[in-house]
Amino acid sequence: MKILITGGVGFIGLHLTKHLLQNEDNEITLADNFFRGEKDKELEEILKNDRVTLIELDLTNKDEYEKLGNGYDYIYHLAAVNGTKYFYEMPEEVLRINILSLIYILEWMRSENKEGKLLFTSSNEAYAGAIEAFGKLPIPTPENVPLVISDVYNPRWSYAGTKLIGEQFVIHYAEKYKLKAVIVRPHNFFGQRAGFSHVIPEFALRIADKKDPFEIFGTEETRTFCYIEDAVEAMKLLMESKNTDTHPIETVHIGGEEEITMEGLAEKMFESAGWRPNKIEKKEAPKGSVKRRKADITKIKKLVGWTPKTALKEGLKKTYDWYALRS
Ligand SMILES: NC(=O)c1ccc[n+]([C@@H]2O[C@H](COP(=O)([O-])OP(=O)(O)OC[C@H]3O[C@@H](n4cnc5c(N)ncnc54)[C@H](O)[C@@H]3O)[C@@H](O)[C@H]2O)c1
Repeated sequence: MKILITGGVGFIGLHLTKHLLQNEDNEITLADNFFRGEKDKELEEILKNDRVTLIELDLTNKDEYEKLGNGYDYIYHLAAVNGTKYFYEMPEEVLRINILSLIYILEWMRSENKEGKLLFTSSNEAYAGAIEAFGKLPIPTPENVPLVISDVYNPRWSYAGTKLIGEQFVIHYAEKYKLKAVIVRPHNFFGQRAGFSHVIPEFALRIADKKDPFEIFGTEETRTFCYIEDAVEAMKLLMESKNTDTHPIETVHIGGEEEITMEGLAEKMFESAGWRPNKIEKKEAPKGSVKRRKADITKIKKLVGWTPKTALKEGLKKTYDWYALRS
């Protein structure tokens, strides 16, 4: 299969590439402008494979699309500006980059690559505003809850806005131009090379530095986490399944099943590290933080028979070991 991964040198992109390379018939093109993805050893290693090609381009520049060529069977559109820091610092750019790159990808598909199938990565952020606006959501949360921006003036919701309208773009382009497409909403994917600003990398670095007392914010808040190798397998299965060639297209949650408090997460990571602080400082959760978040994954189980395989403990150990080497 000929495969294009936009945002291909980022966290999910590189793990997805490794996973797809296990099939000898796959040829993979990574398209990225290195806004966030890094030219590190892992990328260098992958680029040694002659079934992988890197194209450097800015997907918000329409003139650069001819670099992509055409004839792709599968297009994973992952490119986006992601990361809370950016939502606050440059919401206008988050909006411009995420929306423009999606519109141009859809336009390029319908004119140059109509036979291909698109996978668009939305986010659980697209519905997270419902809790702030209405106080509750069903837990576990299924795909068909309303998508909500609770305050358009708050820059925090800029990214969520791009995912909300992004889903609408993909649904209605797919419908109008009979494109094959599937939307996924990742829920807290974690693993090696995930940047440094999420809770797990952040804990890992502080544990590796033996920070004592050890601060934990929102100790009783719960989350589920999905190890990246399971996550990319879910994405591949959804892309390759005939069950997602339907119109209207499917939107599917991908997430872990093991719900854990922030304190429990820290404890599991202390175990992975073989070190424990003498004192834990319990701090209040950041304002607006959600107490409980868990995806309902009934739909993906039905569509492609996927369930997460990696126990949280095992994924955390692999992740911790990777970050500890970099602290
Ligand atoms: N990691 C998660 O748990 C998670 C959760 C929800 C949604 N998502 C979505 O999944 C996708 C991939 O996430 P990730 O964690 O790998 O993020 P990431 O930031 O590691 O990767 C995104 C990649 O897109 C590239 N990019 C940004 N703007 C670009 C542009 N104009 N042209 C070309 N490339 C550009 C970046 O350089 C980066 O390599 C994103 O759409 C993100 O919103 C991820």
